[in-house]
Parts: sequence; structure tokens; C-alpha cells
Amino acid sequence: MRLTVNDTDHAIDRDPDTPLLAVLREDLGLTAAKFGCGIGLCGACTVLADDHPVHACDTPMWAVRGKRIRTLEGLRDHPLPRAFVAEQAMQCGYCIAGIIMTSVALTERAPNPDEATVRQALDGNLCRCGAHNRIVRAILACHD
Ligand code: FES
Repeated sequence: MRLTVNDTDHAIDRDPDTPLLAVLREDLGLTAAKFGCGIGLCGACTVLADDHPVHACDTPMWAVRGKRIRTLEGLRDHPLPRAFVAEQAMQCGYCIAGIIMTSVALTERAPNPDEATVRQALDGNLCRCGAHNRIVRAILACHD
């Protein structure tokens, strides 16, 4: 099966039911997206498929065939990762790739989100360190 990830076409020799997260991490070496809960509840594995956040842990490879998949590794010169660094919005960092990809999708469809919109968009992304306030500040600062 062929997958387009970060604007590069890849031939993947795997069972089509293989979770996208396994393909990204094990076949393509793209390890930013993390395995957290494995059942679509924590958001650590979030990547974009045709500009929409998806949980790569419970999305089979066949479901994203023909879609444009984006991961944190594909965000070259994007202002959001820089804003996260400036606001020190990362603590352990485990959730951050998923949170940034969710934020990218949000700001692409709503370029100047207010705080309530940011918090609602991130509702499905858990941060066990408690860095949520800094994360929200980073996203808002990025678009001031
Ligand atoms: Fe995918 Fe938790 S690891 S949502």
C-alpha cells in the first residue's frame, strides 16, 4: 500500500489493518507521535489526515490511503513549535507532538482562535504534567 506522509510517497509492505502509528514509528522512523492509551482517548498519537486530527493508534493504514498525512516532523519553520518553546509549554514532552498537530489543525481552520476555542479543541489531548495553561498561552501567543 502507498501512503503519503509529510509530502513524501511511501510503499508500505504491511497488513492494511496495521495501525497508522505503527507504520509511522516502525516503518518510517517518524517517532514524534507517541503511543499512550492505544484506544483513541489520550491524543498522544495525533497526526493530521487531510488536515483533520486523527488518532494514529486506532486508525488502520487502509483508512488513510490516498490522504495527505502530516506529522510533527513535517512542520518545517512552522510558528507553533517555536511558540511552545518560547512559552516553555513542554514539561515531559510526551503529549506535545499530538497537541501541536491538533493545534495546527485548529489554527488552519480558525486562524485567530480565542481561549475558549483553544481549550475546546484540546479537550481530547491529555497532558499529565499539568502544562495546559502554558500550552494554551503558546497557541494564543502564536497568533497575537
Ligand atoms: Fe492514541 Fe491515546 S495513544 S489516543
